[in-house]
Amino acid sequence: MNSTQYTLLKNGTVVNADGERRTQVLIRDRKIVQAAPTLTPPADTNVIDCSGKYIFPGIIDPHTHMGIPIKNGWSADDFESGTRAALKAGVTTILDFTILEPGQTLTESVAKRLKQAEKSHITVGLHCNITRYERSLLKEIPALIRQGIKSFKVFTTYEEAGMYLTYGQIKKIARIIGKHGGLLMVHAEDNDIIKAATKQFSGRSLTHPKYHALSRPPESERVAVEKMVEIHQQTGCPVYIVHLNTAAGLETAKAGGLLVETCPQYLFFNDTVYEQPDGRMYVISPPLRKAVDQIALWEGLLNGQVDTIGTDHCPFRLSDKPEGLPFEQIPNGMGGIETAFPIMLAKWLQEEWPLPRLVQLMSTHAARIFGLYPQKGVIKAGSDADVVIIDPDNRRTVSQSDLDGRDAWNGYLGLEAVWPAG
Ligand code: URP
Ligand code: ZN
Ligand code: ZN
Repeated sequence: MNSTQYTLLKNGTVVNADGERRTQVLIRDRKIVQAAPTLTPPADTNVIDCSGKYIFPGIIDPHTHMGIPIKNGWSADDFESGTRAALKAGVTTILDFTILEPGQTLTESVAKRLKQAEKSHITVGLHCNITRYERSLLKEIPALIRQGIKSFKVFTTYEEAGMYLTYGQIKKIARIIGKHGGLLMVHAEDNDIIKAATKQFSGRSLTHPKYHALSRPPESERVAVEKMVEIHQQTGCPVYIVHLNTAAGLETAKAGGLLVETCPQYLFFNDTVYEQPDGRMYVISPPLRKAVDQIALWEGLLNGQVDTIGTDHCPFRLSDKPEGLPFEQIPNGMGGIETAFPIMLAKWLQEEWPLPRLVQLMSTHAARIFGLYPQKGVIKAGSDADVVIIDPDNRRTVSQSDLDGRDAWNGYLGLEAVWPAG
């Protein structure tokens, strides 16, 4: 299709964060020109009949890891394969993370990652990882924020990987970020609690993946989140907790005014999967939790406690996590970008939950939090023509043939899914 030609999405139900309405959507040159109950398109407009279909703003995944090194392995998708798979599942924007190499400045890390992202099929934005505490790095923050890199991620654990910062260091970073209008993102698991718990199992040839979960107890999230609430309140810096996964963490974060992301893996699975023959493939950090935590997270999606859904997409092949590998050596992460929206949508339609809430969680809130709104996250005149057309009857369980990623293992096979139209 010629991009200067007009396209009309006719008679569909547009679902925005504030409601669903029968709307005609006129598109030209990758922009929404008009969105109204009735409109008269120019002659020779290409018309797509969307009767009986929903039209959502493109899904924004605020948390992906394309092609990153973890424990002697590399996550299986690079920007090319990961964004190709994402697009099929309705995702039109991802926000990935820089990798700070030894000796590199933050600015260099951003430039290198942007270069890697050039082969993407969809819009890619970046959060800047700060995984070392050095004065010279901190000095770069204001200029990066001015240039549009506004979100910075820190880790309260991963000491063994050289990514850990102390709470004191994080507070100093938060002061700078807050002063200059940025956002602090936090992987919140308390390092001391993990170290103490890991000592019980580590180095004893314990290979079972269940020890991964036991060595990272739920309390580690609550404690780290509590510290982040203190930091938020003392510095005024907005704080966004990535991949939040426990009931206690959620209560603490929301009582303290933090932004919260959760992920499909924490909603659909709990720690019983570690007993399965493929349990090692679910080794992710933080680990999968208990059924009570799942219930709290699902409630949080509906009652407004959870702000966004990200995937933490970090897939591995079966061969990347060989059977029998001691639990501390298993690369952490699993894929999810190709299934996140289809499985969430299937659940939403089945439960007859309000669709605008799903749009908030999977598009609009991320657009607002990360400064992309109203270019992204809404269907209205002037916005990017990132739209997902959905036939609610296009429901089938996830099977291998739906998946496009680089033959990585996928934990969601067999789940109900509603797939976007081609
Ligand atoms: O296990 C996970 N989540 N791997 C990706 C890195 C991270 O901590 O987000
Ligand atoms: Zn993380
Ligand atoms: Zn992550």
